[in-house]
Amino acid sequence: MAQTILVTGSTSGFGRLTVETLARQGYIVFAGMRAVAGKNAPAAEELRVLAEREHLALHIVAIDITDDASVEQAIASIVGITGRLDVVVNNAGIAYGGPLEAFTSEQVQQQFDTNVFGVLRVNRAALPHMRRQGSGLLLQIGSIAGRLALPFLGLYAATKFALEGLTESFRDELAPFGIDAAIIEPGTYPTPIAAKDLSAADTERAALYQSAIDAFMTPFYAENRSATPPDPQEVADAVARVIAQPAGERPLHTVVATVAQRRAPQAINDAVPQATRSFFETLALPLATLAPKREK
Ligand SMILES: NC(=O)c1ccc[n+]([C@@H]2O[C@H](COP(=O)([O-])OP(=O)(O)OC[C@H]3O[C@@H](n4cnc5c(N)ncnc54)[C@H](OP(=O)(O)O)[C@@H]3O)[C@@H](O)[C@H]2O)c1
Repeated sequence: MAQTILVTGSTSGFGRLTVETLARQGYIVFAGMRAVAGKNAPAAEELRVLAEREHLALHIVAIDITDDASVEQAIASIVGITGRLDVVVNNAGIAYGGPLEAFTSEQVQQQFDTNVFGVLRVNRAALPHMRRQGSGLLLQIGSIAGRLALPFLGLYAATKFALEGLTESFRDELAPFGIDAAIIEPGTYPTPIAAKDLSAADTERAALYQSAIDAFMTPFYAENRSATPPDPQEVADAVARVIAQPAGERPLHTVVATVAQRRAPQAINDAVPQATRSFFETLALPLATLAPKREK
């Protein structure tokens, strides 16, 4: 039976490409989006037309990940239709840019409410169904900014660092239930996120940093503006590859980035398992592992 997959934030960028990619591979895909009857009505309609034209099992589900009731309703409606939920791709996210001291507490709250608390909400709603099935995958979309500390992206990066820790803990905690967790770490890709221009509200303080911001941001995003920008489809393909791997064999971290951006986060990823294992062994802590589950 085809697996049922929820992808949050499917109106544009990685989410949109991911739902199309997964649906074309034969999965039953629920394209999660907020404001389905409002500003995202055209995006929802485009996916409905695509699904009909290509005979895909691609459905729209309304989900605002900052709203408990919306998240619970979305998960319940998916399970009501297919009877199961095999994979959640926690893709929805927002990105504030600017110096840390220039954000208001409301902005900090909003950044974390979407990128971190939103993921916890979705996973909390999904897990009882996965536990009942004895299988499942929580796949977070992190960032290389969740591996390396970067200036002027620090607020956003803090949420992606949080996702790293949450994913590792989920992986350990959920292994005994047969449920897997993993994280994809994209580099910079030219998706609509940059144009959403969420900047620090205290413009007076932000102005004090302007020359340093320009000096950092211009080279950091240079590849996105080049004649051959990185292709966001690479992220959708990486998501599909991780989903297709058997439980217990999936990489915990997957960096998806240009060669120049990939090296440093990959080096950190390579160091983490050994350091973690040695910590657990030194303290004689039990280390849970997920045994690959083979279909009979
Ligand atoms: N592009 C990059 O360079 C890059 C690099 C590393 C990681 N990422 C991560 O990749 C993920 C996707 O980003 P993207 O680059 O593809 O940007 P995007 O095109 O702006 O997509 C973000 C998606 O998240 C949705 N979203 C935001 N808040 C939401 C909420 N409260 N409830 C439900 N959906 C919500 C957006 O919906 P609306 O249309 O309604 O706003 C949109 O569908 C994000 O987690 C981002 O942090 C991006």
